[in-house]
Amino acid sequence: MRHLLTLEELSPAEIERVFSISEDLKSKCEQGLREPLLPGRVMALIFEKPSLRTRVSFETGMAHLGGSSLFLGNDVGFGRRESLADFARVLSEYVDVLVVRANRHTTVEELAKYSTRPVINGLTDRAHPCQAMADLFTIRELAGTLRGRTLAWIGDGNNVACSLAIGCGKVGMKMVMATPKGYRFDAPFMTRLNEIVPDLELTVTDDPKAAVRDAVAVYTDVWTSMGQEAEAEKRRRDFAGYQVNAQLMAHAQQETLFMHCLPAHRGEEVTDEVMDGPQSVAVQQAGNRMHVQKGILAWLLGAQA
Ligand code: CP
Ligand code: NVA
Repeated sequence: MRHLLTLEELSPAEIERVFSISEDLKSKCEQGLREPLLPGRVMALIFEKPSLRTRVSFETGMAHLGGSSLFLGNDVGFGRRESLADFARVLSEYVDVLVVRANRHTTVEELAKYSTRPVINGLTDRAHPCQAMADLFTIRELAGTLRGRTLAWIGDGNNVACSLAIGCGKVGMKMVMATPKGYRFDAPFMTRLNEIVPDLELTVTDDPKAAVRDAVAVYTDVWTSMGQEAEAEKRRRDFAGYQVNAQLMAHAQQETLFMHCLPAHRGEEVTDEVMDGPQSVAVQQAGNRMHVQKGILAWLLGAQA
């Protein structure tokens, strides 16, 4: 049983395979073709946190593939009415795949342990693998190659950053993080990263200008992730010098992409000028969530194996 809880589970060849399925499905989609690779398959979505992109792109993608989806609300009593193990065992009797957005990463691990159907992580406190897959796909689409290129991460060493670091290592990209002390990858994650992608060239600095200089893409995310709202004020102070604005982008190349997983807190981690400027690919990036998730679903459920 294959799950997608972090990008650790995918080999470089499998990542490339998912990209190639996604590319094919995207090009067909743009011609108005919805290839029904998964007729009759059912996807359940369980979300403990809000979502626009992940939920809608998965549901729409599954509809394009000829399958259907069930967004499970409060009434199923997730985490309250029965054990996660029983929940996963029973849900596996009904559906073909589970997409889960959880407060704690251990929740998706526990579900995957007992589910007899693939579990896909739709974001946890530690990882956002589908986001990172769509991001790398977007860079590949716009910049041609990934190997040897540098991704500049400006801001919090959060779930998205963790998944991008693993992803960069898998596809041979370098990563430069401009992140204040206290918000960098913690020691257990660094140890794990070294084990999973020992060849990853990761540089950590507190100088955003130096970080963006040779980057193919400059990427930022909110300073305060979902669930960290109580720390918002302190985080605003701690990240004050880490805003991606026109002054910072002037230190990058003209063709450097600006990326953001969205939702954005405009005026905090990014200015309107950059977000709406010519280098920004944030909307295309969000659009690619759907194409890449179709690739992930088709690959995981074996339609193209
Ligand atoms: N980027 C992303 O995962 O967006 P949502 O939180 O809207 O799903
Ligand atoms: N780091 C953000 C990503 C949202 C898609 C969060 O976890 O809230």
